[in-house]
Amino acid sequence: MHHFKSKYPTIMRRCLSLLCFFLILVSRVKSDPDPLQDYCIAETRNTQTVFLNGAPCINPINASPSHFTTSALSKPGNTAANPLGFNVTLTNIRNLPGMNTLGLTMARVDIAGNGLVPPHTHPRASEVTILIKGSLLVGFVDTSNRLFTQQLREGLSSQNPGAQLASSATFTTKPSIPDEILKKAFQINGQDVSRIRKNLGG
Ligand SMILES: *[C@@H]1O[C@H](CO)[C@@H](O)[C@H](O)[C@H]1NC(C)=O
Repeated sequence: MHHFKSKYPTIMRRCLSLLCFFLILVSRVKSDPDPLQDYCIAETRNTQTVFLNGAPCINPINASPSHFTTSALSKPGNTAANPLGFNVTLTNIRNLPGMNTLGLTMARVDIAGNGLVPPHTHPRASEVTILIKGSLLVGFVDTSNRLFTQQLREGLSSQNPGAQLASSATFTTKPSIPDEILKKAFQINGQDVSRIRKNLGG
């Protein structure tokens, strides 16, 4: 999130009025199937002869950090060319091949002052909107045609993201996870367990 925020400080810069309005029609639909492996980095160079649900994967041995990072969303889209004043930049398997089959797309939406994204649905996804810069009226209509709208302010717009450190969640729980379980799970001895607990303030 920090990476995203710091790199794109100008997103929606010009969207400063209440008139920026977009409706997201959310329907109850199935998301992508669960992946059967950690990742499937898209093979985008070879001509595809077999059609899969997603692109074929490269050999996992050749996976690298760059497959999981992208600067595709760093540049503002040109909103002037669009009569409604918006421009959508998407991640895809070419600019972010590590997301292939993982069921996630990120979109940067630049909206001009008084611009709008017309009402639309995403038949295969749920959507989270985070306003990076400006002020934006967002909303959706439920299946009984009830409208929900909210004026977004800059910043993270999660209801309750939560955070948990795996180390503390393992070694400093109350009550403690039994030593025998930790010893076996981490292949360590009783002294190791005590030392880690102490180091983590448990
Ligand atoms: C969105 O902005 C990009 C970058 O300026 C531009 O290349 C593209 O044509 C724009 N798309 C539309 C639909 O205006």
